Amino acid sequence: MALVEVKQITKKFGAYSAISNVSLTAQDGKFLILLGPSGCGKTTLLRMIAGLELPTYGDIVIGGKVATRLHPKDRNIAMVFQNYALYPHLTIYENVAFPLRVRGFSGDIDKKVKWATSLVGIEHLLERKPRQMSGGERQRTALARSLVRDPSVFLLDEPLSNLDAKLRHSAREELRQFQERIGVTSIYVTHDQVEAMGLGDRICVMQGGVVRQLGTPEEIYLNPADTFVASFIGSPPMNLISDEGRTIGFRPEMFLPESAFDPSEALYRTEFTVQRIEYLGGDRILYGMVGASLPSSKAIARLPATIGTLPEVGTTAKFAMRLSDIRYFDGEGKAVEQSRRHEARLVVNG
Ligand SMILES: Nc1ncnc2c1ncn2[C@@H]1O[C@H](COP(=O)(O)OP(=O)(O)O)[C@@H](O)[C@H]1O
Ligand SMILES: [Mg+2]
Repeated sequence: MALVEVKQITKKFGAYSAISNVSLTAQDGKFLILLGPSGCGKTTLLRMIAGLELPTYGDIVIGGKVATRLHPKDRNIAMVFQNYALYPHLTIYENVAFPLRVRGFSGDIDKKVKWATSLVGIEHLLERKPRQMSGGERQRTALARSLVRDPSVFLLDEPLSNLDAKLRHSAREELRQFQERIGVTSIYVTHDQVEAMGLGDRICVMQGGVVRQLGTPEEIYLNPADTFVASFIGSPPMNLISDEGRTIGFRPEMFLPESAFDPSEALYRTEFTVQRIEYLGGDRILYGMVGASLPSSKAIARLPATIGTLPEVGTTAKFAMRLSDIRYFDGEGKAVEQSRRHEARLVVNG
């Protein structure tokens, strides 16, 4: 187990900065997610932690020791890549056993291989060669191979992206349980915010080579640091409405027909004209326009099936949200701090 510290790291490719002055800490034994859109620098950052890439500026500290220039094999780190090359001439069993054999592991190799492969659901395919496996099965073999040698830091770069949706969900659960059981410090890269919310102890949201926010899933969901995080996290994303140089944000599931609230609650009321309704099992997504007290703009409401009557498409209904559920962002898109919200609210309501 080891604490991983990224200290003011910048990585330039020529004149282009893929990572700009990023600092973060992956806590001992915890699961940190690097989340952001494609091209934001997640893989580059992970490769510097693994020792596969040298930072232009800054340091990587692992377990209290500066590791910036340490060779990858001296870091006791396992990394699972998006596309991991397996040894084509070896069976799945031998591929997974390989890291133990080269390190002269003295324990029960057979037991370890069976444990790691059953964790990812390929224990029945051990005699196959990689070419006889599907893409997803190869990915899981790579995962098993990295799990098998008890690394002190585990780096995963979109390891589940080749699995189908159902398998991805169960693999995610297994990965999480495994991580909790052995308590290995893990840094997991994904562009999928649903995956990030389900897996992470903490999530580091990145964009354009910088950290936008680092917090628990709840923190980044309920109190996004800026409008980028607000619109990147959540499906559908937070409603963001520009109003006199500020932005008002509210989550679709907190924006409901007025009748759904207790009359004694402090509400912000507005009109909502429904343009389209999408049925999503237990929830209904309503697309439409807000107006009246808010500037006319698009908005989305997410109503649970427990709210019986839906407004019809084409009609305008009275909608509301709790004042405490509204978030405010300044002209630069930065969240207005708790202490300054009162001031912002007056402008919104005035
Ligand atoms: N070896 C490289 N040479 C030049 N540019 C690179 C190199 N590796 C990555 N980049 C660029 O750095 C940016 C971040 O890439 P990457 O870390 O792969 O993003 P992500 O993993 O978040 O999708 C991209 O614009 C990418 O094109
Ligand atoms: Mg990547």
